[in-house]
Amino acid sequence: MRSHYCGDVNETLEGQTVTVAGWMHRRRDHGGVIFIDLRDREGLVQVVCNPEDADSFAVAERVRSEYVLQIEGQVQLRPAGSDNEDLRSGKIEIIAKKLEILNSSETPPFPLNEQAEVSEDVRLRHRYIDLRRPEMLQKLRFRSQITSRLRSFLDDNGFLDIETPILTKATPEGARDYLVPSRTHEGSFFALPQSPQLFKQLLMVSGMDRYYQVVRCFRDEDLRADRQPEFTQLDIETSFVEEEDLMSMMEEMIRDLFDKVLNTSLPNPFPRMTYQDAMTRFGSDKPDLRIALELVDVNDLMKTVDFKVFSGPANDDKGRVAALKVPNGASLSRKEIDDYTKYVSIYGAKGLAYIKVNDIDAGIEGLQSPILKFLPDDVVMSIMQRTKAKTGDLVFFGADKANIVNEALGALRVKLGHDLGLVSSDWKPLWVVAFPMFEWDEKSDRWTALHHPFTAPREADLERLDTNPGECLSRAYDMVLNGTELGGGSMRIHRANVQSKVFELLGISAAEADDKFGFLLEALKYGCPPHGGLAFGLDRLAMLMTGSSSIRDVMAFPKTQSASCLLTNAPSAVDEKQLKELNIRLRKVPTVLDGTTN
Ligand code: AMO
Ligand code: AMP
Repeated sequence: MRSHYCGDVNETLEGQTVTVAGWMHRRRDHGGVIFIDLRDREGLVQVVCNPEDADSFAVAERVRSEYVLQIEGQVQLRPAGSDNEDLRSGKIEIIAKKLEILNSSETPPFPLNEQAEVSEDVRLRHRYIDLRRPEMLQKLRFRSQITSRLRSFLDDNGFLDIETPILTKATPEGARDYLVPSRTHEGSFFALPQSPQLFKQLLMVSGMDRYYQVVRCFRDEDLRADRQPEFTQLDIETSFVEEEDLMSMMEEMIRDLFDKVLNTSLPNPFPRMTYQDAMTRFGSDKPDLRIALELVDVNDLMKTVDFKVFSGPANDDKGRVAALKVPNGASLSRKEIDDYTKYVSIYGAKGLAYIKVNDIDAGIEGLQSPILKFLPDDVVMSIMQRTKAKTGDLVFFGADKANIVNEALGALRVKLGHDLGLVSSDWKPLWVVAFPMFEWDEKSDRWTALHHPFTAPREADLERLDTNPGECLSRAYDMVLNGTELGGGSMRIHRANVQSKVFELLGISAAEADDKFGFLLEALKYGCPPHGGLAFGLDRLAMLMTGSSSIRDVMAFPKTQSASCLLTNAPSAVDEKQLKELNIRLRKVPTVLDGTTN
């Protein structure tokens, strides 16, 4: 139906007859001559309809925004002075000879030929139109390049692309499962995979040696800008490797990707940081190293002060008192400080103490703060020294349980970085390593796996499984880029007895382990090689590489924050017949009467 894409018609085709097809982007009626900008995937081309060509002119008069047209015509250079530098086809125009309307269009719900503020809900409701916008198209095209490049790298390195089931059994990755009722097995359910974790390990038992898959994963969890209920992983597993082998190959893959797709060199090797270090210095296990601000521990200085807000956590094993120096922060207004105090309260912080440094050379007299009266002068001056505060700076403080201080000051650090323009514009990848195996969960009063229950402990820490699980480090690693966790993985447990012990520590009884993971425990008994792997969040990678602020922008048909699809209205009710076939009877759906739920 066409000889060229609109965007590809250029001066090399001068004098030739071409056929183009696409959407009517814009029409201008210039007293007698009608100009049509025709748009397709590759761009715009200007078409000129002259009244002398009565048939095509008559059609041109009828076309409206987003009509689908097929146009045949001759390419000619634009008159001198009317080139459009912004278009690849900007030096030429097509003189229409034949113009056919292939389909009409209603007026689109938002204009595509001008910059308009359109709510995301409207865009998602009419996503097929939203995706016509060049920015969106560009992002999906870019994403396709990313996947293609990653696949090439893995294909070239001997990885096999193998599919794993979508209708499966629960895989614990820390979220709720999406369940699918079975018609043929009354009362039983499949779970959609949170990841292909167990299948990829089984493929190693099978001897596939190097596996990858670009795979959809499903997690019913609270959504954020970088989380969707269904998302795509680049999932990888290899046998007979150690962390070093795998990490260096994965780094190489990401470096190759950035080099080929963005023409950008990433550091070689990526820096590494222990989990402990990341938490202490940045309050986060995915530190954004583009921001130079760091947390500084002041626990030791606060143990004996009268100010209970600080001395309490300083003397508590699980407490932390930390300072965050903000260069030139003394100019923050009272209102700005109040707003930051409100911001950290989201993370559970009960306050945000601060000291303004008006003149560091004037000692205590040069400082300004509501808490100075609670702290001995020597302690205050030690803080100034430790944080290397200078005149014009401000020091914030967090004091609470360590996890609250880390979350609050960690988030504040990032917010301040953005608010005060302290984010450098380069790429800052790193590996976070030496994660603890377990985290104590106060609520359920038991250990939980920091990564997942199939992650191997360090060989040197094996004994600690019995003696001191909290101190046991794992063989897990996360790849972090600009404050986003891009991917994570680990060397796996490949011995059945170690796996059983870890289940036990996690409070999973032998019977439950057998019920949920019996197939894995059994497989480990049949010659399972040492193996490990990791999974990248492909949507997150595409989000970062396209400079998008949400992963929804790099997904063709994303879901909303409340995990629904505005385009199809999924999830939706099903009819009684379907429910009956599935042996499902719904519990009484609460009805809202007079504003009360019963
Ligand atoms: P993990 O749970 O860390 O590991 O997931 C791997 C990567 O997937 C991405 N990701 C998400 N992206 C979008 N929306 C979500 N809801 C979401 N959840 C996770 C992140 C994350 O780093 N089986 C293990 C991997 C392994 O051990 O090999 C796993 O799934 O970028
Ligand atoms: P208060 O004595 O509660 O008025 O607090 C004095 C100062 O300490 C105020 O600036 C509070 O914002 C701050 N503050 C209170 N609790 C904490 C906390 N847990 N961490 C850091 N600062 C706090």
